Amino acid sequence: MAEHKRENFSSKLGIIMATAGSALGLGNIYRFPCEAGANGGGAFLIVYLVVALLIGTPLMISEFVIGRRSKSNPVGAFRRLAGKKTVWPAVGFLGVLCAFLILAFYTTVAGWTLGYLGKSVAGHFSGQNLEQIQSQFVSFTNHPWLPIVCQLLFLILTAFVVARGVKDGIERYSKILMPLLLVIMVVLCVKSLTLNGAADGLKFFFNPDFSKLNGRVLIGALGQSFFSLSIGMGALITYGSYISKDDNMTTSAVSVVLADTFVAVLAGVIIFPAAFTFGIQPEAGASLAFTTLPMVFQQMTGGYFFCLIFFLLLVIATLTSTISLLEVIVAAMTEELKITRTKAAVIGSLVTAVIGVFATLSFREGSALHISGRTVFDLLDHITASYFMPIGGLLIVLFVGWRMKRADLLDEMTNGGRLKVGVNKVIAFIIRYIAPVAIAVIFVSQLVG
Ligand code: PFF
Repeated sequence: MAEHKRENFSSKLGIIMATAGSALGLGNIYRFPCEAGANGGGAFLIVYLVVALLIGTPLMISEFVIGRRSKSNPVGAFRRLAGKKTVWPAVGFLGVLCAFLILAFYTTVAGWTLGYLGKSVAGHFSGQNLEQIQSQFVSFTNHPWLPIVCQLLFLILTAFVVARGVKDGIERYSKILMPLLLVIMVVLCVKSLTLNGAADGLKFFFNPDFSKLNGRVLIGALGQSFFSLSIGMGALITYGSYISKDDNMTTSAVSVVLADTFVAVLAGVIIFPAAFTFGIQPEAGASLAFTTLPMVFQQMTGGYFFCLIFFLLLVIATLTSTISLLEVIVAAMTEELKITRTKAAVIGSLVTAVIGVFATLSFREGSALHISGRTVFDLLDHITASYFMPIGGLLIVLFVGWRMKRADLLDEMTNGGRLKVGVNKVIAFIIRYIAPVAIAVIFVSQLVG
């Protein structure tokens, strides 16, 4: 039988940085601008901010509460808190399944970041014009084996860290690298704002056109906020289980939501001015980050250096996210199936690799890997962000708000009465009444159009 001792994060800063490590990633820098671009810019941004703050924060706290109170992986957590004979552990299973599906397509783009790090080391972008940079993206993603090798390498890297036990590694390096990512992004932002298309880009991003608001934009913003904050599928139940009894979960969650939202907005402020300057469609989707950013670097003194640092940090920000995804799977397997971390990490990443390769192959031009009009990549992204995470999130707030006793919830949020109850009462109210209704309404609004 595998022995596993449960470790805790060593400090409040450690929790914030590890959770921010999970939250900050491709969702902010790659997916957010894609979603905002496709859903009308400013209108999307406003809905996103409201959803992230009003629903995202209480849901993140709910996950922490479940994790810390049960000291268990998502499946075990619901079993411990609700009992074996209930349906609640199924919510944990749903989360683990969701982690597999996200990891499968997430590692497609994660592999690109690794490939682009290689390209920036080799100086592939210097002296290139927009068409050349765009065609580099097309030939990279259509290469017969390179994107798959990069994806598998990324999975191996993730499995390696997770197998060794995460806490020390993740916590230690998240603390240094997350602030560094922020600094580099601020520098890029300043550069982007001095480009010719800055005014048009900012107008697109910040000017809300409410006529664009519909069910699709709402679910897009909800799915994006869940994806970006890593909520609704148990990742933060797992991280919550490593939070010690003395840490303040409410302020940790608020810090992470603010940092995550700030970085997403920053990514928009970098990408849209650049896209407008170089004549790239804001709806360009996948290629937005991988073509606009190298173009911005082209315009900068020291561009080679910044490009290299940027892709290095992007790899690391992505890695801290894939680690948290694989950790959900590994924590569940080690505790439920009683196998070692190493075995769980190997099996988890092998299964992911099998699905993930299809996601990567489906990206190729002319690929037959389409299901109901979507590539496998898009389909996995769509079903996780539009169905799994909102449904998971709804069940989590219903569990914490209605199945748990209110006194237990407040007890957990206030560390057994040692912290002030004040704002926690408001959060408990949102968890009980507002979040479930809001998630349900947004979810149904997409079904009816
Ligand atoms: N939050 C990550 C991002 O924005 O890139 C993606 C993610 C990581 C989603 C971990 C879910 C998760 F459990």
